[in-house]
Amino acid sequence: MTHFVEGQMLKNPLRWGMVGGGRGSQIGYSHRDAATRDGLMQLVAGAFDIDAERGRSFGVSLGVAPERCYENYQALFAAEAARADGMQVVSIATPNSSHFAVCKAALQAGLHVICEKPLTIRLEDAQELEALAKQQGVVLGVMYGYTGYEMVQQARAMVQNGELGAVRVVHMQFAHGYHSAEVESADPGTKWRVTPAISGPSYVIGDLATHCYQMGALVSGLEVESLSCVRRSFVASRAPLEDDAHVMLRYKGNAVGMLWASAVNIGSAHGFKLRVVGEKGSLEWWDEQPNQLKVAFAGKPEMTYERGHGYLDASARFERVGGGHPAGYFDAWANLYRRFALAMSGEPEAAALLAGQWFPSAKDGVEGVRFMLRCVDSADSASQWVDFA
Ligand SMILES: NC(=O)c1ccc[n+]([C@@H]2O[C@H](COP(=O)([O-])OP(=O)(O)OC[C@H]3O[C@@H](n4cnc5c(N)ncnc54)[C@H](O)[C@@H]3O)[C@@H](O)[C@H]2O)c1
Repeated sequence: MTHFVEGQMLKNPLRWGMVGGGRGSQIGYSHRDAATRDGLMQLVAGAFDIDAERGRSFGVSLGVAPERCYENYQALFAAEAARADGMQVVSIATPNSSHFAVCKAALQAGLHVICEKPLTIRLEDAQELEALAKQQGVVLGVMYGYTGYEMVQQARAMVQNGELGAVRVVHMQFAHGYHSAEVESADPGTKWRVTPAISGPSYVIGDLATHCYQMGALVSGLEVESLSCVRRSFVASRAPLEDDAHVMLRYKGNAVGMLWASAVNIGSAHGFKLRVVGEKGSLEWWDEQPNQLKVAFAGKPEMTYERGHGYLDASARFERVGGGHPAGYFDAWANLYRRFALAMSGEPEAAALLAGQWFPSAKDGVEGVRFMLRCVDSADSASQWVDFA
């Protein structure tokens, strides 16, 4: 039994737009592919680029009407609000420091929002956005895209069902090797990531570790009580921003965790892994082989659970294509975008289609920012243990 039925559409697909994600950006295509995959959202407008003319010509090349390719987000929100067929949802895929202002303006315009992570670079800003979304009665989703994989949902369900017993250890890693040397002078997409005014107070913690933290929390169901972090700028010119971070975590209760986020892990493509060890069993997931989940129970040989099989939990049976065909990154994103659309649509049938499915919300965005800032606080005070709350 799979949740996905092709052609199960909204009566009125959502009119969707973007801020950022312009030509050549790292993440713009992923949003466009995911949002439009199942026909639940249609791209109608945008302010795609910091360079207005480049953004306009790019929007037109995507099929957006020229008059709906705007010079900046302020013009986008104002002009679309004045149209009877104006945009209803906006995705924000700009560098980190602009998320707060763009997101706040979008929420004030009454739009549903899907924002990139980290949601903001200050905790109080993230909390303000969460409260504003609630006040406006709109959905604010945060694009922790990896959580859309079916086998991540399977891992979550197995912990929730008690199959592993009480969780003892959570190991998380997102450690790639693309930036082991100073590449940023020739790469603007890396340059802003190591520039505090744009990236915020961290590089790999905000860029990578927040994904780990979010997935660890989702799957384990545990809440962090306190943490200790070491961060290093192995490429010295990146200081004070780190290109490597190690975090030790104490969870509420007795469980403990470790997290490694790095951009200098030579030989690793992505290296995003999660391992959860409980009192009866363990599981392990790796984003480069996302259709498999390694599971082991004490005294038994390790097993590999595969996407698309009847033995999986119902929450992990979301299949556009049967098991055996590798589903991947774009599918995970499309799963989340589908849930965002169903949550935003307001059509009565949408609520039923969404039932039992999880998506990353404003609350997850706030906790991701809290995690980033607590890690920085610890690292910059000689790795002292700091309370998470
Ligand atoms: N969820 C994920 O897995 C994931 C992956 C990569 C990046 N990201 C996040 O996405 C965001 C963008 O990252 P990226 O790597 O695509 O950056 P990028 O530098 O490759 O692209 C940024 C785009 O935003 C545009 N832009 C910048 N300021 C703008 C503004 N004020 N108005 C309109 N457009 C503007 C730029 O012109 C460019 O097109 C970051 O917050 C990053 O953390 C998330």
